[in-house]
Amino acid sequence: MNSNLIALVTGGNKGIGREIAAQLARLGHTVIIGARTQQRGEEAAAQLRDEGGDVTAVVLDVTDQASVEAAAEAVEERYGRLDALVNNAGISNQPGADFAGQLPRSADVDHVRYVFETNVFGVITVTSAFLPLLRASKTPRIVNVSSSAGSLSAISDFANPDPIAVGYVPSKTALTSVTMMYARDLHPEGILVNAVCPGFIATDLNNHHGTGTPRDGARQAVAMTIIDTDGPTGTFTDVNGPVAW
Ligand SMILES: NC(=O)c1ccc[n+]([C@@H]2O[C@H](COP(=O)([O-])OP(=O)(O)OC[C@H]3O[C@@H](n4cnc5c(N)ncnc54)[C@H](OP(=O)(O)O)[C@@H]3O)[C@@H](O)[C@H]2O)c1
Repeated sequence: MNSNLIALVTGGNKGIGREIAAQLARLGHTVIIGARTQQRGEEAAAQLRDEGGDVTAVVLDVTDQASVEAAAEAVEERYGRLDALVNNAGISNQPGADFAGQLPRSADVDHVRYVFETNVFGVITVTSAFLPLLRASKTPRIVNVSSSAGSLSAISDFANPDPIAVGYVPSKTALTSVTMMYARDLHPEGILVNAVCPGFIATDLNNHHGTGTPRDGARQAVAMTIIDTDGPTGTFTDVNGPVAW
């Protein structure tokens, strides 16, 4: 078990990300909450500090290169390294846009691109910016919060009752693939990279239609964040084990 990891959770101000931050803090780890605004990040961090956690916040919009770079600089100044990067921030829809834009029959490519900017390109942007700080760690690991909704075996099943969404679902297929590319490329450096699925969790992302709680949804991300340095890399799991791919 790793002691006192310094962990950054993107989108850590609410939903599953906030619970990942809370659970890591309760285990005694140092947590940095990445949030799009200072206010949202500080409010979440202050609540967790009130519970005794070692938690700070940093402004971080995964779609804004300057914001990501500034966040990496802030973490470097504050801690000099990063042990765990949890790429949790994600969206299901472009805010305010009609979901019809994600139906193949009426697809709006700008809407689809918007979702990919956050869920896929944002992860690459953030990971690139924080790699130097992960390399300064003796226990570097990355956890990407993906979704079984993007599993090829699920999306090719015509009996699958899940919503068809040409933005969100393929963005998670891509994110799991991106995870495997990083896992293989960073393996020689000892950086562990894994994808997790939180389950169907009631959050703002799905208008609270999920069946699990954020506490449930955080569990596998936390488990993969605190793995030993000789732990797995290049996996895609949920609380029940490997996710079909
Ligand atoms: N809920 C589920 O059933 C479920 C299932 C599978 C996978 N997931 C994945 O779990 C992750 C967390 O989702 P959630 O359900 O907890 O959703 P949520 O409650 O809507 O939280 C999403 C978080 O991501 C942040 N975010 C969105 N766009 C961002 C950006 N451009 N830069 C930085 N942060 C950004 C949000 O910040 P703001 O507060 O500023 O909006 C918020 O903190 C996502 O990757 C999602 O795809 C969720």
